[in-house]
Amino acid sequence: MVLQKRQAVRMKNGIGFRGSMGLVMFLSQYCIAMAVTAMAGPRIAAPAVYMVRVRGHPLSAYRGSPGLHYASTAHHAPGTNRPDFSSEAAHAYAEHLRGRHDMVLEEALESGSFQKLYSYTTVLNAFTVKLTDHDQAKLLESHPRVLSVERDQLLKKTTTHTPQFLNLPKGAWPLLSGAENAGEGMVIGMLDTGIDPTHVSFGDRKLWTKPYSHLNKWKGGCEVVEDNFPAGSCNGKVIGAKYFSRGIMAADLFNETYDFASPFDGDGHGTHTSSIAAGSQGVPVVVKGYNYGTASGVAPRARIAVYKVIYRDGGFLSDVLAGLDQATHDGVDVVSISLGSINSATGVPCLNTFDVALLFAVSTGLVVVHAAGNSGPYPSTMNSYGPWVISVGASLSDRAYENHVITRTNQDYVGTGFSAGTRQPFWYHLIYAEDALNNDTEGLDAEFYSYCQNPAPFNATVVKNKILMCNFVEYSGGSAAAEFENAVKVATSLNAAGLIMLNKASLLSMKLQRVSMDPVPYSIPTAFIPDSDAAADLLSFYNTRTKRDDDGNIVQFRARAKMNDSRQALFKVEAPRVTSFSSRGPVFANTITSVVADLMKPDLVAPGNEIWGAWAQNGIDVAGFVGESFAMISGTSMATPHIAGVVALVKQKHPTWSASAIHSALQTTASNVDRWNNTIQAEQPSASPTTTPLGPASPFDMGSGAVNVTAAMNPGLVFERDFQDYVNFLCTLPGVDANTVQDSTGATCDQRVGARASDLNTPSITVANLVGTREVKRTLRSVSEQTEHYAVAVAAPAGVDVAVHPTAFMVADGEAVVVYVTLHASQTTGGFAFGALVWTGDRGHVVRIPLSVLVGEVV
Ligand SMILES: *[C@@H]1O[C@H](CO)[C@@H](O)[C@H](O)[C@H]1NC(C)=O
Ligand SMILES: *[C@@H]1O[C@H](CO)[C@@H](O)[C@H](O)[C@H]1NC(C)=O
Ligand SMILES: *[C@@H]1O[C@H](CO)[C@@H](O)[C@H](O)[C@H]1NC(C)=O
Ligand SMILES: *[C@@H]1O[C@H](CO)[C@@H](O)[C@H](O)[C@H]1NC(C)=O
Ligand SMILES: *[C@@H]1O[C@H](CO)[C@@H](O)[C@H](O)[C@H]1NC(C)=O
Ligand SMILES: *[C@@H]1O[C@H](CO)[C@@H](O)[C@H](O)[C@H]1NC(C)=O
Repeated sequence: MVLQKRQAVRMKNGIGFRGSMGLVMFLSQYCIAMAVTAMAGPRIAAPAVYMVRVRGHPLSAYRGSPGLHYASTAHHAPGTNRPDFSSEAAHAYAEHLRGRHDMVLEEALESGSFQKLYSYTTVLNAFTVKLTDHDQAKLLESHPRVLSVERDQLLKKTTTHTPQFLNLPKGAWPLLSGAENAGEGMVIGMLDTGIDPTHVSFGDRKLWTKPYSHLNKWKGGCEVVEDNFPAGSCNGKVIGAKYFSRGIMAADLFNETYDFASPFDGDGHGTHTSSIAAGSQGVPVVVKGYNYGTASGVAPRARIAVYKVIYRDGGFLSDVLAGLDQATHDGVDVVSISLGSINSATGVPCLNTFDVALLFAVSTGLVVVHAAGNSGPYPSTMNSYGPWVISVGASLSDRAYENHVITRTNQDYVGTGFSAGTRQPFWYHLIYAEDALNNDTEGLDAEFYSYCQNPAPFNATVVKNKILMCNFVEYSGGSAAAEFENAVKVATSLNAAGLIMLNKASLLSMKLQRVSMDPVPYSIPTAFIPDSDAAADLLSFYNTRTKRDDDGNIVQFRARAKMNDSRQALFKVEAPRVTSFSSRGPVFANTITSVVADLMKPDLVAPGNEIWGAWAQNGIDVAGFVGESFAMISGTSMATPHIAGVVALVKQKHPTWSASAIHSALQTTASNVDRWNNTIQAEQPSASPTTTPLGPASPFDMGSGAVNVTAAMNPGLVFERDFQDYVNFLCTLPGVDANTVQDSTGATCDQRVGARASDLNTPSITVANLVGTREVKRTLRSVSEQTEHYAVAVAAPAGVDVAVHPTAFMVADGEAVVVYVTLHASQTTGGFAFGALVWTGDRGHVVRIPLSVLVGEVV
């Protein structure tokens, strides 16, 4: 499935958002079909890039063999639980794998008829190669050492007030001796569009911060490229930067003008996400001369390692895997991935090449954080599948900006956009664009000019000091922000007092009754009225007030209005709330048979709506922020680095915890109630074009809930699992046999007879088809310093009787307790029903896991 970076404009038309449901759902089906037919399908004569997986362990799973004395457990980097891939033995093994790849190519193909792009050795034993035709791919596929051959795939990209919203200054940061220390020693790997290293958010030389010292565990490097990533671009904060472009170059989609053959960000997205995770603390956000407050990353003291794998128009899996391979090798603590994945030919999303690579990365102790996708609010739109990754959905924070046009008759029209207001307390005449044209343009198409894209036909004398009203129709593409910028320029050149853009529902393409757009800043008072009914109403107020002669010429302008300042944040939204664009579960165990997995996705939600973050000098992603050093954008892309930052904080506090312990800590402490102590709401699919209905968020909307950083630092109990547990999980999936799992992971299924995916020791229980009774086992380990007594409370899903044994227990630090949960179907309800188990300890820990059960049959 392709994850679209969320566009500046999304349309609510009752069917879905552009770039979300309609397009992405279509694409996902297309991709599945493509994947299935990729090998058998039409013969590809043109050169193409293929990913080739080879039999045998990658470095991350290699346990040593005679002659090659590398054993990962014996080679942990000092003071960490991560293997040291820079050892001589590791080098030797990686070299051995590279040699194998070359050997396979030489044996299968005529020399000189191919071009190897990458060898992957850490998270996959695989390579990518550019071939001249499909027959070569067939030849490779039949080589005995080759596991699979697939076409390379294009993936898409999917301020900050959020540290306050997450209560970091009073919660988690003090636990780590303050913001200036929060994230110390942690390295966050960003697989994204690169970074603008000159941005003040990534400076390492603030007067009041202590200098960064050398990190022994860090094995990565900084790629210096003259012109745009010169020596000195890396510093104590940005400690690594590499770019991976062989895949996109082989596909001829690399444009040197803006993609930059260096780690430099030519887009803006990577600079933004990096600053959310680990931008310096207290950086003023000044945009178009206005100070919107200060920005801080979640882990302001953490280091950033940049792996540029995505370019302005997307990126290739071959490059993404190269970045992941390198990041795992370099020893980052957590990676943040805000981009999409694609289904594999097997139809088992958890066995996608990408997901398997992520499994191997996680097996080294690395925590992987991945965007859920922006294809909500419809069910089963997840972009992230594996139980080994933290899949992050997006929520709204409590901050809102309001933009109002108020008429002399006290009608209040709600708009979007950041700008100063008209001069108070004056009322300004409104003038509609069609009435503002020079006399001699009369014969021309006045409607065409009413979009205010060109100043030439306008009569500056009549517009001056009035509020100009222009039409807006979104035809296609992401150019809305550019259209707005043009209109602002036109209005400015005419000396208008302000600009109102009216959403004109049009029959030209699709009637868009409501266009929803993230606010962008404007240099003059500007409002976009997104609701077409409201826009029509305002226009009719203008028309009834304006006096005309018999020829229709205006005799007197009498409709007056004012606009107020829309740049000040208000904190009154009931938050958090799951945003409509955030992708929803459940996920499929098998997309071909549409069998739903016994797995909760997403894992949790974090702020992802209207997020301020650093912006690259060359960022042209959103026209309203071109040339600015900060931008406000939305998406699960923005939620993901928040969680990467939180992981850095938890890991700093608990450096020896396993990846799954950290994963569990974030989930069991997540909140299912909002700031007003109400059940968190999720924006739901809408039947009406102008409203966004809310409903209680289910675990398929928000996973365990909204991250609570303070609580995640001290979860009490954790649910852990290791590589073999994940292998056993894969072995239970429908349509997957032991050989497939062995081929993919190099490991053997050793699960008990009758094991099910629901047995994986996750901090959630999901049963997609409960027939009669099922017993589910969970192992809880104490990570508290003191012995604690826990008692469980059960909120049973409708139609299910739930029994937990034991109901109470004492547990000492490090000890594990096994708990059996018996689910008994008492009634079919026709869909998933939800509940929770909550363990409350007598030392204050609260450990909550969601239950999601669909009763298939009452026996
Ligand atoms: C690269 O981008 C520039 C600027 O947008 C454009 O003029 C040029 O045609 C592009 N080159 C290619 C090969 O697409
Ligand atoms: C512009 O409007 C003014 C005021 O109505 C009028 O006097 C003038 O002739 C107009 N100019 C043109 C070029 O139409
Ligand atoms: C434009 O129209 C206005 C109002 O009808 C009139 O006063 C003005 O003379 C016209 N200007 C020109 C240049 O025709
Ligand atoms: C703008 O006007 C609206 C409606 O009168 C009001 O609710 C809001 O507080 C005003 N905002 C500012 C920043 O003045
Ligand atoms: C929130 O609601 C729960 C359950 O209704 C209640 O027990 C708790 O006291 C409430 N907390 C606050 C802070 O209002
Ligand atoms: C987060 O957790 C802390 C510590 O357990 C608790 O005091 C606080 O109320 C929680 N906050 C939210 C918003 O749930």
